[in-house]
Amino acid sequence: MAMGYREIYERYRHNILAGVLKPGDKLPSIRVLAEELNVARKTVEAAYAVLVGEGYLVSQGAKGTCVNPDLVLHSARPVMTPSSDDAALNQFLDLRDGAGYLRLGIPALNAFPNKKWLLLAGKAVRGLRPSEMTNPPVMGYTPLREAIASYVNIPRGLNCTAEQVFVTSGYRSNLMLILHALGEKSDKVVFEDPGYFFGQRLLKRFATRLHYAPVDRQGINVDYLLCHHADARFAIVTPSHHSPLAVTLSLPRKHQLLEWAAASQRWIIEDDYDGEFHYTRKVLPALKSLDNQDRVIYMGTFSKTVMPAIRISYIVMPKATIARFREIGEIMEAGQPVLTQKILTAFLSEGHFYKHLKKMRALYQQRRKMLLEALQTVYPGLFEIELSDGGMHIVAFLRASTRDSELAALWQRHQLQVSALSGWYCLSAKRYGLVMSYTNIASTEQAIALISRPRAETLALLA
Ligand SMILES: Cc1ncc(COP(=O)(O)O)c(C=O)c1O
Repeated sequence: MAMGYREIYERYRHNILAGVLKPGDKLPSIRVLAEELNVARKTVEAAYAVLVGEGYLVSQGAKGTCVNPDLVLHSARPVMTPSSDDAALNQFLDLRDGAGYLRLGIPALNAFPNKKWLLLAGKAVRGLRPSEMTNPPVMGYTPLREAIASYVNIPRGLNCTAEQVFVTSGYRSNLMLILHALGEKSDKVVFEDPGYFFGQRLLKRFATRLHYAPVDRQGINVDYLLCHHADARFAIVTPSHHSPLAVTLSLPRKHQLLEWAAASQRWIIEDDYDGEFHYTRKVLPALKSLDNQDRVIYMGTFSKTVMPAIRISYIVMPKATIARFREIGEIMEAGQPVLTQKILTAFLSEGHFYKHLKKMRALYQQRRKMLLEALQTVYPGLFEIELSDGGMHIVAFLRASTRDSELAALWQRHQLQVSALSGWYCLSAKRYGLVMSYTNIASTEQAIALISRPRAETLALLA
């Protein structure tokens, strides 16, 4: 039976009340909706008329009909009950999805070359060939694989070919792909402690034998790994700038780790998520650049250098594993959007990427200084900062308190999206402080104003 006007009316009312349709959203024209629902135009007309009469919609003449821009809804947001009892979970999910300042992992959004990107996007759309409109190649668009290979070989010091590059959609799909391609369910996996929250969460669910190795000022403690977990099949590390401590893995430890992997056919997964950002003259090549036995699986991302929303990352596969990755990739992956890959290819190969990186390095260095000055001005003596050579965030260690979780929650209530360092640990020996990003700070004055918001409560909490 064809749909009546009442049903159309109910559906719209429900969607508006539930917030799916928002004030100002445009509705399809009467003709289009009638065709889509296969009903007479007067049925849709009647439904729209009632909704206009009740104030849910407004008719804008030739411009069509939209949800009343002045509509005020007093709907209570449903309370979500976390499915996990992991106390840190909400903190990190809120930080990932919420708005606010000092957010981790977000590049300087106001400094992105939007106009250039738009130009390249237009060209990519116009140049899309019919062959590029079919299913994307699972391992990536060939010109992008080539552009990535030539990029990582120069500033990151790798020595790979385009055939070794697998274009992926981010950290989590990288880990899943690697573990499925090269591992067994029963393999022991070692992760850094503290370590990247989303990595921990994924591995806790999918790696049946997950263990941790502590990180100190020289990066992951390889002696500890050799002593307790020499039989691990995978060690997942962030050697350029540890996440979150931002320390760099020392050269002796890099060699020690590589020797372990080479001697017993183990795999090192190198997560080089922000290695591009170094502010001293000491440009550190990736761990992979020292790997002459091909035991390192290298992961890079455009989330920090371009934007997280682009969802393009890559794995550099050891040569001997390409066939295996292809086989598993054909099962698990469907390839990434070709259009995005085309735009990114032009961005890389026409040199805009390098220009942007250079600009961001200078900008982030200035912005880091602004945040440090602000911390010193507003909270003299409260925090201790161990500066690393780069990265996109700092850790402000608490000098005399372990109450970082309460402190982070307090700052978050003031829209400062910092996270508590202790929440990144799984082993018992923890350090305490706030992890925060400076990439979107506009000035020292702004930083001072922002971090002053919770000043009185901070001093009271830590008194
Ligand atoms: C430690 C670490 N690894 C990897 C990534 C990159 O993840 P993705 O490529 O999924 O954006 C991030 C992003 O914040 C990160 O912090």
